[in-house]
Amino acid sequence: MFTKKEYEKFIPTMKEMREEVKKDKYRLAYHIMPPTGWLNDPNGLCQHRGVNHIYYQYTPQTPSWGIKSWGHYTTKNWVEYHEEEPFLFADSIYDCDGVYSGSAFVEDDKIHYFYTGNVKYNDKEYDYITSGREQNTVLVTSTDGFTFDKKHLVLQNTDYPEDMSVHVRDPKIYKKNQKYYMVLGARSNQDTGCVLLYVSDDLVTWEYHMRIESKIPFGYMWECPDLFDIEDKTFLVCCPQGVEQKGIDYANVYQMGYFEVKLDLENKSYELSDFVELDRGFDIYAPQSFLDEQGRRILIAWMGIPDASYHNDKTVEHQWQHALTLPRQLCLEEGYLVSKPLEEFKQLRTHAKGISMKNQGEEITPALYEAELNFSTCETIELQLHEGIHLHYKNHILTLKFTECGCGRDRRSVVVDDLCKLQIFMDASSIEIFVNDGREVFTSRHYANQISKLKLQGVFEMVGTIYELKPFTLVK
Ligand code: FRU
Repeated sequence: MFTKKEYEKFIPTMKEMREEVKKDKYRLAYHIMPPTGWLNDPNGLCQHRGVNHIYYQYTPQTPSWGIKSWGHYTTKNWVEYHEEEPFLFADSIYDCDGVYSGSAFVEDDKIHYFYTGNVKYNDKEYDYITSGREQNTVLVTSTDGFTFDKKHLVLQNTDYPEDMSVHVRDPKIYKKNQKYYMVLGARSNQDTGCVLLYVSDDLVTWEYHMRIESKIPFGYMWECPDLFDIEDKTFLVCCPQGVEQKGIDYANVYQMGYFEVKLDLENKSYELSDFVELDRGFDIYAPQSFLDEQGRRILIAWMGIPDASYHNDKTVEHQWQHALTLPRQLCLEEGYLVSKPLEEFKQLRTHAKGISMKNQGEEITPALYEAELNFSTCETIELQLHEGIHLHYKNHILTLKFTECGCGRDRRSVVVDDLCKLQIFMDASSIEIFVNDGREVFTSRHYANQISKLKLQGVFEMVGTIYELKPFTLVK
């Protein structure tokens, strides 16, 4: 358990931890981080009465894995944020070993949160895969995003299909034809990843409807599923675990991407496309999307990944670890999902400097910047972003490469037929590179020295702008 009372007792220690956190030069300037301790998945994303709520998997007491609460930030405009009190604590029989990931569904001014209550048995030895764990689906409702009524158990292990392991979690709601569907990520006893769909008329009583899996097994577990429509297409975003690397594809320990799904809910039939990776960087996992009040499909992911061979020891020394990505708008272009940094981030731009280069050039950059580089031609390029951070483009392959400042991160690549545009967001210890207007993205942490220079060499012609960025505002 980690209850509100225990959290309150911990506040004096947290004050000391905050002092340590403040000293860290790698603290980010325009990304969401835990005030102290650990952060992983974004949760419960929604906009309610104009306010965007961003909850997240949170362990304030330690910068490593521990019992999860839901931390909470709010923002009305994406550049001014409020740190709020944690929203959910591991304080009930349904979730005493962690308030795991979940989502929000807003209807008639009411927010319905569904999350996974994690319970681990300790009375004897278990493998915690086929037994030893409860994965409860819990509902709480709220009219303000800050307080909720009470925790209602809506599904438990015995409600999941018999061939499921005890890994079934991360509920997300999809409404279609006046019915509510819930997707849950799952691992079967045969070690294949899949998504379970439940159906409801009232958001309270749920009945098993169907499952979605790939024809050929694709990993042993699918975490954090998200089902949504954009225009006339339906997409299933999820995070398969246990997929083998194939050339330059699936290079991370776990994957984040999507299937386009032709889904016939009435007849319980579907067809999945091939899996497409949404981001090619080192630090990307557990995305979640929501529809904001303007009708934009906004996606935020964890700028981190579990079980990686690389590390963030430099921030751990300062009592915190991990961050969320920039929020991105998902759009449909030529049948693919593309990710675009939210327009609102333009408000962080201060000075702008135009640049133009042919085949070579260099430019000192501010510590925090956004660079927009438009190529009229680009055959090859060697681009140094910081000492130790390089982008190469050759034979239609774009590669992000780190030396020591990657703390174990080495290289990640993607095929890009024609390199036309790079939009690069540099923060104190993160980099997000949007390629060709978001058709590909590389998201990564880095621990480079903060004096930076853009240095380009190759066969190319480019005009661009470098914007100095100011930090976003954060009020406690
Ligand atoms: C993904 C995940 C989820 C789970 C949560 C626990 O990173 O493993 O499946 O709900 O994190 O923190």
